[in-house]
Amino acid sequence: MNVPLLDLSHQHQPIHDDIANAISQVVDSNAFVLGEEVSKLEEQIADYCEVDFAIGVSSGTDALLISLMAIGVGPGDEVITTPYTFFATAGCIARLGAKPVFVDIDPVTYNIDPEKIEDKITPKTKAILPVHLYGQCADSADILNTAKKHNLYVVEDAAQAIGSQYRDGRKAGNLGDLGCFSFFPTKNLGCFGDGGMVVTNHPEMNERVRVLRVHGSKPKYYHQLIGGNFRLDSIQAAVLNVKFPCLEDWNRQRQENAHRYETLFNECGLIKAQKVQLPQAAYSGLEVPNYHTYNQFVIRVSDRDALRGFLLENGIGTEIYYPFPLHLQKCFHYLGHKAGDFPEAEIAAKSTLALPIFPGLKPEQQEYIVQQINLFLAG
Ligand SMILES: Cc1ncc(COP(=O)(O)O)c(C=O)c1O
Repeated sequence: MNVPLLDLSHQHQPIHDDIANAISQVVDSNAFVLGEEVSKLEEQIADYCEVDFAIGVSSGTDALLISLMAIGVGPGDEVITTPYTFFATAGCIARLGAKPVFVDIDPVTYNIDPEKIEDKITPKTKAILPVHLYGQCADSADILNTAKKHNLYVVEDAAQAIGSQYRDGRKAGNLGDLGCFSFFPTKNLGCFGDGGMVVTNHPEMNERVRVLRVHGSKPKYYHQLIGGNFRLDSIQAAVLNVKFPCLEDWNRQRQENAHRYETLFNECGLIKAQKVQLPQAAYSGLEVPNYHTYNQFVIRVSDRDALRGFLLENGIGTEIYYPFPLHLQKCFHYLGHKAGDFPEAEIAAKSTLALPIFPGLKPEQQEYIVQQINLFLAG
């Protein structure tokens, strides 16, 4: 049996004609950048995330970059974030001449450990940039309290978390000052190329992001700020407008698949034997769980690399998010970190493995995956 890590055809096939029509209408309109489709998407995402404003941008990376620009991050500033994330999170901080200041992760959720943030705050700290990794909100109550106490901005990297909810019921993106989404094809709501969205409740941030999106120009050709080309294409927005009504159902299917994995792993005894650790959708001790949307279903295992090789040989696609934490990356050597500085992130990088979780994944495919993992780990 072959099971890829991600198969988008289950999502696209039923709406293929609607997508083709929507693209064709954009082609006929001869209007390819921003425009009606982008405005429509912005309205839908703002409603969905229960925020006042949404601004379509060119990618999740650019959503982060423009948000940091909007709050005025620049040389001499420090921004606190996690070393266990996609590169863009810290890359955007450094691209603006600011310093990424890393804080280790919680080993259960893989998100930034809020208890370790306060120690890293200095007079130069401008913002906290938590990531809602794999589709589960970071422990935001403590992060927001710390930010308030020290008068810091909070910019959420919600690239992997559209539709996720923090345990208080608020949606990802609606927790901090600005929220950043990615519509990269592998995301729970993905376009046919690159795209992103910034959401905010602050009218002045909405205005700044809109102006920065078009090189800081308002009115046209009169530049108040130095921005960039961060515009979202009409074709990408048209695709997303067709896909958006399916998002809740797709997220629900991901949750059902996660639940099925839990049952299967429990049945074969790998959890009890502590050979596999499953994602935890709640912080320990809390009654109300986070609403996890499982952009990735990431397990923790010993002998991860050998298991991954075995699964590949047996037709099962997996991925490692992420094999090398950011504080040890060559481009960040100038920050002066060494192995051992953020032990939880380093252990996670060596022991985590993402399994197929996509909507349309069949129960028999999940049974096969768990059976193969059991074969390898129990042997
Ligand atoms: C946590 C995180 N941040 C930022 C990004 C960047 O988004 P994009 O690829 O749309 O630029 C991604 C995308 O993979 C991500 O996973």
